[in-house]
Amino acid sequence: MTRKILVTSALPYANGSIHLGHLVEYIQTDIWVRFLKMQGHQVHYVCADDTHGTPIMLRAEKEGITPEALIEKVHAEHSQDFADFLVEFDNYYSTNSEENRQLASQIYLALRDNGKIVSKTIEQFYDPAKQMFLPDRFIKGECPKCHAKDQYGDSCEACGATYNPTELINPYSAVSGAAPVRKQTEHFFFKLSDCADFLRDWTRKGSLQNEAANKMHEWLGDAGENKLSDWDISRDAPYFGFEIPDAPGKYFYVWLDAPIGYMASFKNLCTRLGLDFDAYWGQHSEAELYHFIGKDILYFHALFWPAMLQYAGYRTPSQVFAHGFLTVNGEKMSKSRGTFVNARSYLEHVKNPEYLRYYYAAKLNGSMEDIDLNLDDFVARVNSDLVGKYINIASRTAGFIHKRFDGKLLGMSQHPVVNSLRQTAQDIANAYEQRDFSRALREIMRLADVANAFVAEAEPWVVAKQEGDVAARKLHEDCSAALEMFRILTLYLKPALPKLTAQIEQFLNIPAMQWADIANSMPDGHPIQEYQHLITRIDAKQIEAMIEANKQNLAPEAAAPAPAAAQKNPSTEADYLSIDDFSKVDLRIAKIVSAEHVEGAEKLLKLSLDIGEATPRQVFAGIKSAYDPATLVGRLTVMVANLAPRKMKFGMSEGMVLAASDEQGGPFILSPDAGAQPGMRVK
Ligand code: 2FM
Ligand code: ZN
Repeated sequence: MTRKILVTSALPYANGSIHLGHLVEYIQTDIWVRFLKMQGHQVHYVCADDTHGTPIMLRAEKEGITPEALIEKVHAEHSQDFADFLVEFDNYYSTNSEENRQLASQIYLALRDNGKIVSKTIEQFYDPAKQMFLPDRFIKGECPKCHAKDQYGDSCEACGATYNPTELINPYSAVSGAAPVRKQTEHFFFKLSDCADFLRDWTRKGSLQNEAANKMHEWLGDAGENKLSDWDISRDAPYFGFEIPDAPGKYFYVWLDAPIGYMASFKNLCTRLGLDFDAYWGQHSEAELYHFIGKDILYFHALFWPAMLQYAGYRTPSQVFAHGFLTVNGEKMSKSRGTFVNARSYLEHVKNPEYLRYYYAAKLNGSMEDIDLNLDDFVARVNSDLVGKYINIASRTAGFIHKRFDGKLLGMSQHPVVNSLRQTAQDIANAYEQRDFSRALREIMRLADVANAFVAEAEPWVVAKQEGDVAARKLHEDCSAALEMFRILTLYLKPALPKLTAQIEQFLNIPAMQWADIANSMPDGHPIQEYQHLITRIDAKQIEAMIEANKQNLAPEAAAPAPAAAQKNPSTEADYLSIDDFSKVDLRIAKIVSAEHVEGAEKLLKLSLDIGEATPRQVFAGIKSAYDPATLVGRLTVMVANLAPRKMKFGMSEGMVLAASDEQGGPFILSPDAGAQPGMRVK
């Protein structure tokens, strides 16, 4: 029976690059989708950029462009990254689309008609300098528990305490540094507290992994208990998002329209392909709907989302699949260790995306456990499994078919060893279907061992030197059998290694394989192409270079003071700086005469800075992530002119450009007011 299946991955925010952590999910989903498509089902895989909200609005402002221009730029970048990692969406759209605006409004109005929306007046922090309400993450201050400075409005990174932003001591706005004031405002809430019984039922339908269902129970409590709070779905202007119907100046909170973006992306695909949207999203839909997500956003997908759909008259997801986080070498990805690696940087250094696809697949088992990218193991595994075991089968046998047998195979449909590779086809299919890719690959590698043992025993390189028809026949048979086994293994690996498979299909001169082709064999006399080298080993040096290039401490030139460092209250004499000490720092207005990328440097731009001297200074600044060099040329900024010159990997750095940053964003370089001239002293 052909199933109708709609699959999504979480929508990445439109203000950052895709990194190795994101790729766990997209690769996981893509492999699953490719497997189901090979089974002949009608599968659509959609995604989009998540484009709304305050961070994107502020990021665009910082770059001096409109939010629309920012999200367009990021959309192009994300699309290219996914394409290069062979993540094949049927549609990659944007939440800032007309389809999404209409669906979000329609869903909101349906919820309102259903009595699920209430409005309440609440008190929020407001930045009087910037004239905007501040999300919790944009308020910082002293932790009320341990008194650590510069902590976020919702939790303390020093002691782990969680609290309300109102509890912070000496709060300040991370946007302007101003002390926020409390201001009343009307917000709209989704009455999640009304939905507990429905959600309890929905959880019991097998829509979640066990670990996730347990979490749900924690959130929901037992029947009769009411542990859920209503969900604040509105934000005040200025906000980049959709205005709420009948509520001028109020906008949908980004998390309201983000999952609706799954529907909008699919709706857009329906228009293109002439599909029936309601057959997938209508209450009586018989299609299957699956969301792949990270475990951190389970709350949104297992509580808010099904409840919204249910009470707006849509179907709910068949299943939500949560995965764990990525660690690298057993630790959280880290900028200072160089393990926070962008998709692009991986491609520049390691080049082959299928190595990572293979490794992730080998680690993924469909649970919510974290997965570890151990870099030594990565190199060893790819080299031994893919090159040593798998490709080797073809590279040791294919040559003889051309040299001796005119490029033609013998049919091997009756060969016992070949047939033994077909016996576990169903187990492998089940493992893929259950998202236990690690089990699938273990079995496939066991079969590759069987094929290799066959080749080792057959010793075609020895037989080839023997004279006579019997030896020739044996050589022809054994090499044909090996290549038929190679075809079967390739079919099994196809969901994980689509590009390599396409090359091999060409080499074997066969049409694109479906899962059912497992039962077929290449016939007697089937001509194949001449064998060409298919993949190379990874050299550990490539990995070292990648990690080295991503080490943030290569770029200490961009100083990173806390955004409102002046707000810290130094408590002891030793915390103060004397004016004499301060005047030792020679700060100068500098004109950026040129700015360029540095070959091999992930973070750095090479700047040449005019500070009124005979020749401009050369400075390497760690600001590549935030600035396009072309937009810097001609700008004035501030540099430290009397820092001892430093020899860096890429050349001498003769100073330092000041820039602000913290976990929320940056670096932001400084600009003087109009009138300042290159070389003026800043004091
Ligand atoms: O956590 C995130 O990165 C969100 N942008 C995911 C959104 S998924 C969906 F709900 F849109
Ligand atoms: Zn604390």
